[in-house]
Amino acid sequence: MSNPSLLILPGDGIGPEVMAEVKRVIDWFGDKRGLAFDVSEDLVGGAAYDAHGTPLTDETMAKAQEVDAVLLGAVGGPKYDNLDFSVKPERGLLRLRKEMDLFSNLRPAQCFDALADFSSLKREVVAGLDIVIVRELTSGIYFGEPRGIIKEGNERVGINTQRYTESEIDRVARSAFELARKRGNKVCSMEKANVMESGILWREVVQKVHDEDYPDVELSHMYADAGAMQLCRWPKQFDVIVTDNLFGDLLSDAAAMLTGSLGMLPSASLGAPMANGRPKALYEPVHGSAPDIAGQGKANPIACILSFAMALRYSFDQGDEAKRIETAVEKVLADGLRTADLIGEEGVEPVSTRQMGDAILAALDASL
Ligand code: IPM
Ligand code: MG
Repeated sequence: MSNPSLLILPGDGIGPEVMAEVKRVIDWFGDKRGLAFDVSEDLVGGAAYDAHGTPLTDETMAKAQEVDAVLLGAVGGPKYDNLDFSVKPERGLLRLRKEMDLFSNLRPAQCFDALADFSSLKREVVAGLDIVIVRELTSGIYFGEPRGIIKEGNERVGINTQRYTESEIDRVARSAFELARKRGNKVCSMEKANVMESGILWREVVQKVHDEDYPDVELSHMYADAGAMQLCRWPKQFDVIVTDNLFGDLLSDAAAMLTGSLGMLPSASLGAPMANGRPKALYEPVHGSAPDIAGQGKANPIACILSFAMALRYSFDQGDEAKRIETAVEKVLADGLRTADLIGEEGVEPVSTRQMGDAILAALDASL
């Protein structure tokens, strides 16, 4: 049988730097664990726009549809701020999500013990935190029609539409309940049913899926604004949070800060199973392209490396090997290694992206 295939899309800003470390980790698994991948690489975002005038070519899109998993770095940057909306770097990422139909976006927020004092919240609030936000990723206000900027009388109107079908809510709810069963068996669904019809439907469908097929999972509902407050007040009350595309975007950035740095958070975007049984999948760090520090070797590669760990777990059924990476990360953090985003303690010199990669590889070696 041929090796499983990976398409690497480093993208813009710090994307290529952090992805360089991921590539070394991938090679390590080929050399040391007999887990070899067929890796190809291509452009996305501003990098693709610079080369081809589009943030994602049809060829790259077709490749993404064929491989077993896509690993993406980050897209965007100030250089592209004035581009037409249709060719902005972000459109490349959104096209991948939409055309691969990656409706279920898993964003874990886990607080590594070594970083508990680094969060802006008190240690007791975040220590041991382990929650997952399941964000609907292919619908809602990100994609709803009508949209645009239109002329009305003598002024312009910006329009976006929040829209959810029952089946879209149903499938993401199922993925949240399935995930909860493998964890703390608890789901909290967040919407704004007090002001939005789409929220009313969201709540009804999530409840119905629960009652019919997942009565064993504990389900609660919260308005998303109250949810944001509870996430900061006592995040450990949650296990799995399921929410729509826009609320998930906001809540996951907030949850990221609970863990100390946005530079720590991986994500998996999953779709329906392919013919080989693996889900369509794209893995990417939650952080962006961080243009302010790009090219300086300062970026934290951990979120991107942990995203590859999620690929091992969710696409390749290698949960133990995923754990091996997570344990290696835990170890280097416990040893005191910090990239610049994690510097808070006095007298700690930051390490470079490459040095953090070196340390994680050394910890992987030590795990054998
Ligand atoms: C994210 C990002 C994206 C989003 C951007 C880059 C399009 O913020 O993945 O959270 O809004 O979904
Ligand atoms: Mg975001």
